[in-house]
Amino acid sequence: SQAPVIAIDGPTASGKGTVAHRVADALGWHVLDSGALYRIVALIVQESGTDPEDKGTVAAIAASMEVRFSAGAVLMGERDISADIRQESVGNLASRIAAYPLLREALLQRQRAFRRSPGLVADGRDMGTVVFPDAPLKIFLEASVQARAERRCKQLMEKGISVNLESLAEDMRLRDERDRMRSVAPLAAAPDARVVDSSTLTIEETVAAVLDLWSGLG
Ligand code: C5P
Repeated sequence: SQAPVIAIDGPTASGKGTVAHRVADALGWHVLDSGALYRIVALIVQESGTDPEDKGTVAAIAASMEVRFSAGAVLMGERDISADIRQESVGNLASRIAAYPLLREALLQRQRAFRRSPGLVADGRDMGTVVFPDAPLKIFLEASVQARAERRCKQLMEKGISVNLESLAEDMRLRDERDRMRSVAPLAAAPDARVVDSSTLTIEETVAAVLDLWSGLG
């Protein structure tokens, strides 16, 4: 039988990424940051001057790109693109092209290939609905826009990037709306997902909640 998957879906800056990594560490499992794949495609589109509206070329980039995740870093060939893909412009472009069915299709097998023994913690928007519909545990991680904007603001300030909280919150609302409204694999809780609201939880409390749900299954 297939290795177990914990799917963690939710909106931008809900803490999915951090929670997924910590849960994976606690269990000794593999981790998939599916958003990074969309961001990598967006970075290549941006840097190569590809027309983002050219859906066929965008999907072809996803099918042929050679990227690796190694010790927390994202590598394209020899180049470490971990920081480049985190730019807000890249995230926004990722969210635009993520609406293309052809692109999502091109990334499907690549994502499923991360499922290996002893298990996988996968974070994204459609892990529980499309990519791993048979995941034994599906988490939908919510948090208020205000809480998420504050977290993202703090992260950026720690990196020495100054941002405006209001415009950040507005960008976030737009990105979420686009992710929720698109016709293909929209951001949504799977019917069998457990909703966890992290607005007032620390990372540690959120991780503990997910681990409790997992041990509750066994
Ligand atoms: O999670 P992250 O912010 O890195 O994802 C960037 C964008 O990629 C999201 O706004 C979303 O539009 C898209 N995405 C997606 N499906 C996933 C993961 C990310 O559509 N499974």
